Amino acid sequence: ELHNNTIRAVDLAKLGVTVYDPGFLNTASCISRITYIDGDKGILRYRGYPIEELAEKSTFMEVSFLLLYGELPTSRELEHFTHRVLRHTFLKQSLVDIIKATPKESHPMGLLVSMLAAEGTLYPDANPAISGGDVYNSPRVREKQILRLLGTMPTLAAFVYRHKMGRPFNYPAYGGSRSYTENFMYMLDSMEDPSYRPNATLVKALDTLFVLHADHELNCSTAAVRHLTSSDVDVFTAFSGAAGALYGPLHGGANEAVLRMLERIGSVEKVPAFIEAVKNRKARLMGFGHRVYKNYDPRARIVRKLAYQVFEICGKDPLIEIATTLEEHALKDNYFIERKLYPNVDFYSGLIYKAMGFPTDFFTILFAIGRTPGWLAHWLEYLDDPDKKIARPKQNYLGSDQRSYIPLTQRN
Ligand code: ACO
Repeated sequence: ELHNNTIRAVDLAKLGVTVYDPGFLNTASCISRITYIDGDKGILRYRGYPIEELAEKSTFMEVSFLLLYGELPTSRELEHFTHRVLRHTFLKQSLVDIIKATPKESHPMGLLVSMLAAEGTLYPDANPAISGGDVYNSPRVREKQILRLLGTMPTLAAFVYRHKMGRPFNYPAYGGSRSYTENFMYMLDSMEDPSYRPNATLVKALDTLFVLHADHELNCSTAAVRHLTSSDVDVFTAFSGAAGALYGPLHGGANEAVLRMLERIGSVEKVPAFIEAVKNRKARLMGFGHRVYKNYDPRARIVRKLAYQVFEICGKDPLIEIATTLEEHALKDNYFIERKLYPNVDFYSGLIYKAMGFPTDFFTILFAIGRTPGWLAHWLEYLDDPDKKIARPKQNYLGSDQRSYIPLTQRN
């Protein structure tokens, strides 16, 4: 089953061979059946289904089911699954109290990291440190954590948002006909009016963005989920670690960094000078480049189209001109051509979030909502991996040889 050019590390270890591979450019650490990427051709598929088809025809709840269980749901399965997820959207009061106690200026991703870790402390039944290392052998316990995480992630985000705005919290609208994403938008905006319905096109746009972010095989944050889970820590703490990885501007934080970059550039006329600064390594073109894609990121193409649909409702953001001009210049420039640097999923997503009224520091938490089913699917796959081992890379030590301790009084 292994790909022909895959060498098993355990076999190399028996030979005493160590591979030096910073950033894991050439190290496969698992066998996965979730997401397929061909970075040279710009192909992305979840469980075999092309991302373009899923973005157009599917929904975030359906894609979540697909990623988690491997097949598209029947309509009954989808209804049942969505119903159960929406039943788990309420936050425990102590989490609400923690949000209330934080400064309004706190970065939403910093809060998410903390809230996920705090959430883990509320479920000792799901903590291998307390309930035993085999607690996740139970399908019921696994299922419960899936529902809790998918259910509470948008509520955490919405409550952080309302706290930031200095507004009272809107509790989830469980029991109505609202979809997962509509319920999230209801919690953000409803002004406590139970009949409030967000704009359907905007709901679809945000739902599509969640679909596009739902999984991307072993990116930094998903690798973090597997890495932390390998120590048998609870899934909430593993997610807290993953959220920390996502926060970084080289990963999920790029959507926020792109927006700040576009604002700093300020006008289309300044694009050529900025491109020169990037080539001289004085700046980085955020939202460009990818470890895996050496071609146009298929998600970026869809997000770009989506941006114009959202602008029709919310008004066009002038920063789009700067973004498209940057793209035009970069795609013609040898620096970017030689290095195969193209827009990635985050290049245009921030412009949509901004047009929809989200504050810039809120963008990455939206990414985290979308990535939740992917993190969970990898968590499940790791739990059942017959080859699983605690993640513990080797190092090549180049420090001092043995030396004798010098007492403090004798050091110059
Ligand atoms: N702007 C300018 N130069 C770049 C960029 C960029 N955005 N990305 C890569 N390069 C250059 C590097 O300087 C390097 O040049 P060199 O060989 O002359 O030194 C070459 O292209 C290869 O880049 P690496 O950094 O080695 O590529 P790596 O795979 O390690 O990094 C990464 C990928 C982190 C995404 C990088 O392209 C980057 O920093 N992009 C900007 C941040 C960003 O948009 N991140 C989001 C990625 S998508 C996601 O996580 C959801």
